[in-house]
Amino acid sequence: MFELFANASEGMLLVDRDGRVVWINDQYRRFLPALGFEREEDFVGHPVSSVVQHTQMHQVLATGKPILIDLLTNRAGTFVVSRIPLRDGAGEVIGVLGIVLFDHPETTLQPLISKFARLEQDLSEARRELASQRRTKYTFASFVGSSTAALEVKRQARRAAQSASPVLLLGETGTGKELLAHAIHAASPRAGRPFVSVNMAAVPDTLLEAEFFGVAPGAYTGADKKGRDGKFKLADGGTLFLDELGDMPMSVQVKLLRALQEGEIEPLGSNKLVRFDVRVVAATSRDLQQMVRDGSFREDLYYRLNVLPIRVPPLRERQDDIALLIEALCEDIAARGGGAQLELTADAQALLAAQPWRGNIRELRNVLEQLALRSDTHHIAAAQVGAVLREAGLPALTLGTQAPPSAAMHMAAVGTVVDAPSAWRTLPEQIAELEQRAIAEALARTGGNRSAAAKLLGISRASLYDRLAAQGDVSEIQTVA
Ligand SMILES: Nc1ncnc2c1ncn2[C@@H]1O[C@H](COP(=O)(O)OP(=O)(O)O)[C@@H](O)[C@H]1O
Ligand SMILES: [Mg+2]
Repeated sequence: MFELFANASEGMLLVDRDGRVVWINDQYRRFLPALGFEREEDFVGHPVSSVVQHTQMHQVLATGKPILIDLLTNRAGTFVVSRIPLRDGAGEVIGVLGIVLFDHPETTLQPLISKFARLEQDLSEARRELASQRRTKYTFASFVGSSTAALEVKRQARRAAQSASPVLLLGETGTGKELLAHAIHAASPRAGRPFVSVNMAAVPDTLLEAEFFGVAPGAYTGADKKGRDGKFKLADGGTLFLDELGDMPMSVQVKLLRALQEGEIEPLGSNKLVRFDVRVVAATSRDLQQMVRDGSFREDLYYRLNVLPIRVPPLRERQDDIALLIEALCEDIAARGGGAQLELTADAQALLAAQPWRGNIRELRNVLEQLALRSDTHHIAAAQVGAVLREAGLPALTLGTQAPPSAAMHMAAVGTVVDAPSAWRTLPEQIAELEQRAIAEALARTGGNRSAAAKLLGISRASLYDRLAAQGDVSEIQTVA
């Protein structure tokens, strides 16, 4: 057998029980120059790991298990090799025989090697793609805003990122809850692990359970024969984002609560419990407390998730941010669309600042996108903004470009009142709203400069502060103090 191998192979070497090369055959001697050795005595008698790069002979010595076929690449080239342990009569490993089966596998084993190379390339591409999909899209820097309210939200979210407890993001649609969920993950110790989201409003109720917990192989006939990992599994080690939590059906609420309490899930059709390690961030635009009172959201689940609640304020509560947001959104729209970045006149900006923005930043973005699509120039005046707002079904403002500020404010106020005929408000309420809008518009026009805004409104600074305080804007009170 030994003779047979020695003649049929491209070379053989033998190491003793200490991993020293004790013998090589004539064919093996050919490789010595390529391995960097002129003389045989520089090779034979030395530990194999110091004379052959990437050798696995010592591993065979340690385990006593052969490596029947392997690719070995080192400075001498790539080889197909075989490593077989040698034993004495008592079964003790006394050495290893190394056989070089092919010395130019790239030619002799060409089809196999090229297939291997192709698969390796596909795999690394797939890995890269998956990593980029799972990487979070946003960081805290993506959350534009320097108003007191925006800074406070960012402060709370940064703090939450350092904690392992569930986070509950509460706020109207389009206020940036999803963006914050990404940012919290990206700033957390789990940033290197997946961020996986499930949107309760987007997945049909009947499929939610499979979506969360996965399906065991063979649980159903047909499409899912192979089984499927649930989001809990996919998010393992990372963050699971439950978007539109308030839309979760009761049946799933029960199962989710149990999973969170036990730290274990049971894939559908399996009777095995699987442990998971995820950090939960949930978001909703619904009034969960009210839902708990109505009995449409489980109280125990609510308390489980409401550990670190963060209220994300609507845009109308942080009008100071609108100018910055317009700039950031226009920059982004231009970058995506390739066009020039929009520039809005002061009037156009003021008009946007005075909107109630029920859809918040998402709605603001839509309006800016419309403006970018529709106008021939990138200079945008108030009239164009007004036209887009009207068509978007937003409170119609017919602010002429030459209209004095007082007229604009008046129309803005009338616009909203007329817009909601179903919700009739008393005269004091309407007056309060008019006042609030006028102040907001004045602040927008003066870039947040309160003295200038007071002058524009024809009231004293003290009076402006009083009114802001009455509107519940705590930040303004702090500024005075
Ligand atoms: N503070 C912000 N700065 C910049 N863009 C924002 C901000 N908040 C939200 N956005 C953008 O507005 C859109 C809606 O935000 P999203 O996080 O999906 O809101 P929500 O989940 O609360 O409905 C997204 O395009 C988001 O990038
Ligand atoms: Mg959302």
